[in-house]
Amino acid sequence: MPRTLWTTPEAVVLERRIGDWDEDVLVLAIETSCDETSAAVVKGGREILSNVIVSQVDLHGEYGGIVPEIASRAHVEALTPAIGEALRGSDLTFWDIDAIAATLGPGLIGSLLVGVAEAKSIAAVLQVPFVGVNHLEGHLYSNLLDDHNAEFPAVALIISGGHTMLVHVKGHGNYEVMGGTIDDAAGEAFDKVARFLGLDYPGGPEIDRLSLLGDPTAIGFPRALMFEGDFDVSYSGLKTAVINYVRRAEARGEIVSIEDIAASFQQAVVDVQVAKTIAATKAAGVHRVFLCGGVAANSGLRQGLAEACQKDGFSLHVPPMELCTDNAAMIGACGTAMLRRGKTSGLNASPDPNLPLV
Ligand code: KG4
Ligand code: ZN
Repeated sequence: MPRTLWTTPEAVVLERRIGDWDEDVLVLAIETSCDETSAAVVKGGREILSNVIVSQVDLHGEYGGIVPEIASRAHVEALTPAIGEALRGSDLTFWDIDAIAATLGPGLIGSLLVGVAEAKSIAAVLQVPFVGVNHLEGHLYSNLLDDHNAEFPAVALIISGGHTMLVHVKGHGNYEVMGGTIDDAAGEAFDKVARFLGLDYPGGPEIDRLSLLGDPTAIGFPRALMFEGDFDVSYSGLKTAVINYVRRAEARGEIVSIEDIAASFQQAVVDVQVAKTIAATKAAGVHRVFLCGGVAANSGLRQGLAEACQKDGFSLHVPPMELCTDNAAMIGACGTAMLRRGKTSGLNASPDPNLPLV
């Protein structure tokens, strides 16, 4: 008889390796914190057997940003098929899975609820542990998935549409937030500037593309907090500076170069972020830098950080693109590390939109 996802082979339940988180442990992971629905199967915490990502970018594009209600509904539609595809893609059934991990927060509450409710239901039916994972901690583990030279300790720059922070990753579950944005996240600044310039959503990739055609030294946009001696950044003033520059130029009847604006804006972000990351790495006394989150796709940031790390003798680890943006594989990797530390969540665990990293 062909096995379906829900077929229970005899004795499988009895043989389940509860509490035995050996190197082959199989974790089904779910990520629904924002606008990507993702399900993955991760083996032994580092090997991705499948990683299905359903992006909602087209749904939100016409509104120029994420609409939370639309995101939740789209997760409801996409999650169950994504889980099925993740299991089929790894040639497994539900009954092979040792634990279920899902993002508990931070994120949009309506989106988180969809993933957490489904994860807990599956865990209850299969009688396996449920592990609620911090989304930001998950991003840290994206670095360990593809690159077997990547190890803790490190300083990680988590840089996305929702977060911008520098974290001293001392070991598994041992983190110190060294600094972060005091206002807008870097990706948010990219998206807002792009929107003002009339570019498509999400704006980060558009600005990156245009900046390759422009002069990054054309306009001297501010580098806020660059020389403050701490590890915080601020992007709200930079966004306003771009808007003021364009409005003033238009009032004078001048023609502005959108490519130069994009390149100069991006260079300002890169300069500040690279300086702060290198300073944090030196202060933490480590030699490894992790770059993760959606803005890690930015060509200027990758290049600027690579050059700076090479100069200071630090190794730089950047996950492949599909692991930089939100994905369930990183949640599975982090969930496995938590299981190994005995950190499971009860079935009464509920999502927290503001869940802090530490
Ligand atoms: O990690 P992510 O997929 O979602 C979260 O925010 O958690 O990151 C999305 C963000 C968006 O703000 C997008 O504009 C930005 O990452 N982004 C980029 C690039 N690709 C994506 N920003 C700058 N340059 C890029 N190439
Ligand atoms: Zn994220």
